[in-house]
Amino acid sequence: MPGLYNQWADSTHGKNDVTCIDCHGADEKEVDAFKHNDVFIATLVTPKDCSLCHEAESEEVSSSYHATAGEILDSQDAYLAHVAGGHPAAITGCESCHGAKVIIDPDAPNKLAEETWPNSGIGRINPDGSKGTCSACHTRHSFSRAQARQPEVCSKCHLGPDHPQKEVYEESKHGNTYYTNIYKMNLDSRTWVVGKDYFVAPTCATCHMSATEKQAVTHNVGQRISWTLRPIISKKKDNWEKKRENMLDVCTSCHGVGFAKGHYFQFDGLVNLYNEKFARPALEIITMIRSKKLLKNPASFSNKVEWIFWELWHHEGRRARHGASMMGPDYTWWHGIYEVAQHFYFKFIPEALEYDDSEVNAYIRKLLETDPMHNWLSKQTEELKKAIRSGKMQEIYKQLLKQE
Ligand code: HEC
Ligand code: HEC
Ligand code: HEC
Ligand code: HEC
Ligand code: HEC
Ligand code: HEC
Ligand code: HEC
Repeated sequence: MPGLYNQWADSTHGKNDVTCIDCHGADEKEVDAFKHNDVFIATLVTPKDCSLCHEAESEEVSSSYHATAGEILDSQDAYLAHVAGGHPAAITGCESCHGAKVIIDPDAPNKLAEETWPNSGIGRINPDGSKGTCSACHTRHSFSRAQARQPEVCSKCHLGPDHPQKEVYEESKHGNTYYTNIYKMNLDSRTWVVGKDYFVAPTCATCHMSATEKQAVTHNVGQRISWTLRPIISKKKDNWEKKRENMLDVCTSCHGVGFAKGHYFQFDGLVNLYNEKFARPALEIITMIRSKKLLKNPASFSNKVEWIFWELWHHEGRRARHGASMMGPDYTWWHGIYEVAQHFYFKFIPEALEYDDSEVNAYIRKLLETDPMHNWLSKQTEELKKAIRSGKMQEIYKQLLKQE
């Protein structure tokens, strides 16, 4: 494997005499240890192995949300993948990002089963009990910090119809500025303090992990985010004020305080809008349909209305929130709220009305006729245009744009 050898020889490890055996050496008793040229080694090098020399990073990784990403078997997503798709798709899809539970081949002791290896998912469940794999971000065998600071490192996983962070970043001013100034990013620098060691643009790592003058590098990617934008209805995280303060400290390395806070005001408004105008009523409608046992087919996801609801929050509903969180206007509107509105009014509601249940019908009628955010449907265009011009229409949304 000359390529593999050279990746190592050219790396910081290679140059600091950290050799193959320092990482791959294993105790005979380990389940994946095997004898190779008279010494026991293991192919897997887990966070536990790296922790021998990098204790702090390994602890932060294992206490982060990333480390839990392999525990998805009971999720709706996994159910859907296994029934509508099939097991091979779960292996090469879900598990490739989230992490597999790595098992030993039952027919060949100490050998990793091909069904679960190779795998470098972010929350991989390892035979030694540790979670995750450092090489999800630190591509082997160079394990370079310069590479980990670039947005591509996150982009294997953070992209696509349900979490387009890569695409949002690329369309944002931050992405624009980064790609036109990569040569000014000082990526190889030993310390990488935003505003000091580099200043032209932030990358994913800058905002979520890297150092500021006040904060050290963190391998816990949840420490700077205040909302969770993943569920049907977004909620603030525990201790969110502190987490928001941490992120604002990053922003204000390059921007004024008022500018950065203005961003959060606008972002919160969009999340509130999605939650209150679309997510909450859609959830109430689907809950009513489910609890009244109106669904024709018994299995979850075997009815059209369930798929429409799923995409409403899991796809377009997330895209809108992700777009607004990281300054991607096209994702906020065209791939986001525009599609949420279209699917809510012209797919979800019509499909719900198909059940012709008096309670469901009454709920929908009341919502569309009396809720000021929805009753535009039965008004005259000219009247509505007048309300927009005079600011009356905007007034309706005032309570969603509140300072916290
Ligand atoms: C800094 C620790 C480290 C060092 C040093 C290191 N490796 Fe690895 N190696 C890893 C990690 C991490 C993986 C991925 C395993 C995993 O996902 O748990 C890996 C995977 C491998 C694999 C399986 C993947 C593949 O592409 O086939 C081989 C073979 C391998 N290493 C050989 C070597 C050899 C030979 C050397 C010395 C020239 C070496 N390693 C040095 C950490 C290291
Ligand atoms: C391309 C990589 C990728 C694939 C493939 C993928 N996911 Fe994910 N998944 C992610 C990322 C990244 C997130 C977090 C997104 C965020 O925080 O905005 C996520 C989030 C989730 C969540 C939400 C976790 C929470 O706490 O709310 C679940 C559940 C989930 N995925 C399950 C699955 C299942 C099951 C599959 C296969 C059907 C799958 N994912 C396929 C990358 C992936
Ligand atoms: C989510 C991606 C990600 C994962 C997973 C990850 N790292 Fe890192 N790591 C980074 C980034 C980004 C940097 C560069 C931080 C900086 O200096 O700005 C980094 C830097 C480092 C450094 C250099 C020291 C420093 O603070 O700059 C070490 C050592 C390190 N990581 C070890 C690990 C170990 C060990 C693991 C697994 C337990 C791990 N990393 C997992 C992204 C990751
Ligand atoms: C035997 C000790 C040892 C082990 C085991 C080890 N490292 Fe390192 N690592 C080092 C040393 C020494 C350096 C260089 C430190 C320096 O330059 O200050 C380093 C540097 C790094 C860097 C920074 C590289 C750069 O570009 O400057 C990263 C990232 C890293 N290690 C990740 C890992 C990961 C991931 C693992 C496990 C797969 C691992 N290390 C296992 C000793 C080790
Ligand atoms: C190998 C896939 C993968 C890579 C690479 C990856 N992530 Fe993730 N990330 C995930 C998954 C999956 C989740 C959702 C975790 C879960 O469901 O438990 C997630 C969640 C997150 C979260 C939400 C954390 C929280 O506490 O809610 C942030 C922020 C994040 N990732 C940032 C990053 C950044 C920044 C990088 C690159 C430096 C990165 N990720 C690299 C897969 C990945
Ligand atoms: C300019 C800073 C900045 C950059 C650059 C940036 N983010 Fe974010 N990110 C944010 C902010 C702000 C939030 C929302 C924070 C909150 O909830 O308070 C966020 C939220 C997230 C979340 C949580 C989503 C959820 O569903 O809850 C993930 C995952 C994430 N970013 C990943 C990434 C990735 C991957 C990149 C690079 C492609 C990236 N970010 C680039 C600032 C940034
Ligand atoms: C490394 C410096 C840096 C960091 C850190 C940074 N930005 Fe920026 N940001 C820029 C640059 C450069 C631009 C483009 C010039 C401008 O509009 O000010 C920009 C633009 C913006 C814009 C204007 C977007 C547009 O389309 O007009 C907003 C909003 C913004 N940043 C918010 C934030 C927030 C919020 C954070 C923290 C989560 C942050 N920035 C972190 C450098 C940074």
